Amino acid sequence: MSEHYHSIFRPGLYRGKVAVVSGGGSGIGRCIAHELAHLGAHVVLASRTESKLESVRSEIEMDGGSASIHACNIRKEEDVRALMSDTVQEFGGLHFLVNNAGGQFMSPPEAISLKGWNAVIETNLTGTFSMCKAAHDAWMGKNGGSIVNIVANFRNGMPLMAHTSAARAGVANLTKSLSLSWAHKGIRINSVAPGIIASSGLNNYPPHIIAMLKEMKTNIPAKRLGTESEVSSVVSYLLSPAAAFVCGETIRMDGGEALYRQMAPVYDHSLSDPYNGFHRKADLPEGME
Ligand code: ADE
Repeated sequence: MSEHYHSIFRPGLYRGKVAVVSGGGSGIGRCIAHELAHLGAHVVLASRTESKLESVRSEIEMDGGSASIHACNIRKEEDVRALMSDTVQEFGGLHFLVNNAGGQFMSPPEAISLKGWNAVIETNLTGTFSMCKAAHDAWMGKNGGSIVNIVANFRNGMPLMAHTSAARAGVANLTKSLSLSWAHKGIRINSVAPGIIASSGLNNYPPHIIAMLKEMKTNIPAKRLGTESEVSSVVSYLLSPAAAFVCGETIRMDGGEALYRQMAPVYDHSLSDPYNGFHRKADLPEGME
């Protein structure tokens, strides 16, 4: 990111608004925080690691924006409820919530332990539900608001991250249910499903996986990875009045990747008979066996 953040949206668009951004200490969440603060919102940065939040807060303040930090483990309901009620008490409202915190690891599904599975579901799906519910209870249920959930590019399944794919698809469906349930309270909820983004978040993966992800650009019709600010501008659009009629939607933004190829290989069949004994030779035209 350059020294000063520049948004494509109108300066002052979010003046007087208060936004909670989870996972705001690095990567895409940090960029979303800069976007909203640049447009005038007070941003409450929430994550488990206070030191990372502190450095983003000072970046935002040096850039002329307003931000504060709140340590929060989204897997702990009491943390989440305190985050929302403290925000309302200190800053007088909670207009926007961006559920960006999440985490997963790459693994073939057969190697995922139930403990690992549950941890990913708890963080990405249950954590997002807790955050929405607490925001509803603390402010939005009475005053309205806008929520954006950052999910993942799960459209075609994710063979090397089955846990997160299931959790994120769950969040996309939760987005629809909450949208319907809370529309009459003036709460709008949408999701963003980013493809591979050139973000510091990629550094959480082992080096060979990072190299593989960078190589993936050949499988992306845009022929490049996405940028953090391309995610934050979609988030900003969804939060803004420009999207006032967009409800319960998940916007995939992946340079066309999901329309083109699967990210993980589909291996050659390991059984001697790929038809599992049910094939009758007469079913297939000659030369097609
Ligand atoms: N980022 C990843 N996991 C998280 C968690 N449990 N709470 C807050 N931020 C997170």
